Amino acid sequence: MTRLKHVLLIHGPNLQLLGRRRTEVYGTTTLEGINARAQKQADEAGLRLTAFQANSEGDLVDFIGRHLGEADGAVINPAAYTHTSVALRDALEALEVPVIEVHLSNIGARESFRRHSYIAPIAVGSIAGFGAESYRLALDAMIHILCS
Ligand code: DQA
Repeated sequence: MTRLKHVLLIHGPNLQLLGRRRTEVYGTTTLEGINARAQKQADEAGLRLTAFQANSEGDLVDFIGRHLGEADGAVINPAAYTHTSVALRDALEALEVPVIEVHLSNIGARESFRRHSYIAPIAVGSIAGFGAESYRLALDAMIHILCS
């Protein structure tokens, strides 16, 4: 049996609150809703998907490290760690697979501290500003990279 390509879908801090947190900025879709939709999209494309959310930087770094040499791609919304975390960037870079950065909001059009991303330079691309739709677009891009 051929091995399915494995994509990590990683969510950073406070994203467990989606649907209840600043809905005017982040929308009303819950994290469970985003993961369910992504799982369907992955199933249709014949990919294996593992979704993970953590609030602590160390837990995110540990999760990524556990998949070294095994994951084929990562789609990540690093949330606030986008703007602060060299550790998360290093962990993602160590995977040596395509990484796509996702944001619900348009981080380029918000407070100045959100305009800098530690993740963007090691990502193949970034998608921001389309609410929950950003995840669908990002996973589509990952499917395109891994399956075409
Ligand atoms: C976010 C944007 C970040 O600046 C913020 O800290 C988040 C969510 C987004 O998806 O728009 O928590 O990553």
